[in-house]
Amino acid sequence: MNQDLITDGFGRRFPYLRLSVTDICNFRCSYCLPDGYKKSGCEPFLSHEEILRMVRAFAGLGVWKIRLTGGEPTVRPDFVDIARSVSEIPGIKKLAFTTNGYRLPERAQEYFNVGLRAINVSIDSLRPDQFRKITGHDRLGEVLEGVQAAFDAGFESVKINTVLLKGLNDDELDRFIDFVADKPLSLRFIELMRTRDNQEYFQTHHLPGEAVTEKLLSRGWHVLPRKEGAGPAVEFEHKNSIGKIGLIAPYSKDFCKTCNRLRVSAKGALHLCLFGEGGYSLRDFLQSDDQTEEFQDKIMQLMNFKRSSHFLHQGDSGTTPHLASIGG
Ligand code: 5AD
Ligand code: SF4
Repeated sequence: MNQDLITDGFGRRFPYLRLSVTDICNFRCSYCLPDGYKKSGCEPFLSHEEILRMVRAFAGLGVWKIRLTGGEPTVRPDFVDIARSVSEIPGIKKLAFTTNGYRLPERAQEYFNVGLRAINVSIDSLRPDQFRKITGHDRLGEVLEGVQAAFDAGFESVKINTVLLKGLNDDELDRFIDFVADKPLSLRFIELMRTRDNQEYFQTHHLPGEAVTEKLLSRGWHVLPRKEGAGPAVEFEHKNSIGKIGLIAPYSKDFCKTCNRLRVSAKGALHLCLFGEGGYSLRDFLQSDDQTEEFQDKIMQLMNFKRSSHFLHQGDSGTTPHLASIGG
């Protein structure tokens, strides 16, 4: 199997693909889809078959980790079928997914059984009322039970994503830190990212990641050395905590230097970066099994367009309407 064939002009390697399987989401997170999901355009999402062709072709280019994202990937009726077939593709060593935790208590075991091994669950507040205000769903209890169910099912990696929100959950930092103390999980604080649709929200609720760094350092946490091939999260540990805390701070200097991922939208567009470009449609190269090479050539060619960094610092949030459209 080819190893790490996908590289860009800045020496970065891309063994990791985040693949959105649907834009649809049943939650209404205030920073993402405050009014709920609205259908856009009439092009269908990638079919199961198109997805398999794509993953096979990427695997041939050395991609070995796949994350299924959305929207909410599990709302797709054939989600488990897709997961099962992707996990069986030669070369795919790790299959992960990101979920809002909907129905996770009863479904975690099935997800594990079809080959999913790593799960990221979004939890932006540990207070039920605040969780409801942020997501539009009174489901904190269910989501927390789902996290436990994921451990019980045998998931190798359980992570929690928490978007840092000034005035909405920044008073809960200590609570989150205490939450992981007795659990073998990693909680990642994600700095709120500006998108086309959340400009005003961003002005009100963006909190720089340093707020977390300062808090962690003052409580005796320290930064773990970066592992080879790790993504852009900075990880912290504490001698009295089983759980780890990570920080994903896209506005920090050098964030993009460790970029190791490519993204494909639910409609088959390759996004070289979360921000700043509209995506390159790959769909035409996924229409028959004999197009693998053509697809791979296209990917290698498109890599030349990958920029060194996003331009969020300059206030450029690009054309990305919200992250449900390209899977975060
Ligand atoms: N900024 C930061 N994180 C976001 N997510 C969705 N939209 C944003 C945004 N604008 C997060 C979700 C989820 C992950 C996939 O992306 O909360 O945890
Ligand atoms: Fe749905 Fe995730 Fe967006 Fe929340 S952040 S609305 S769970 S896609």
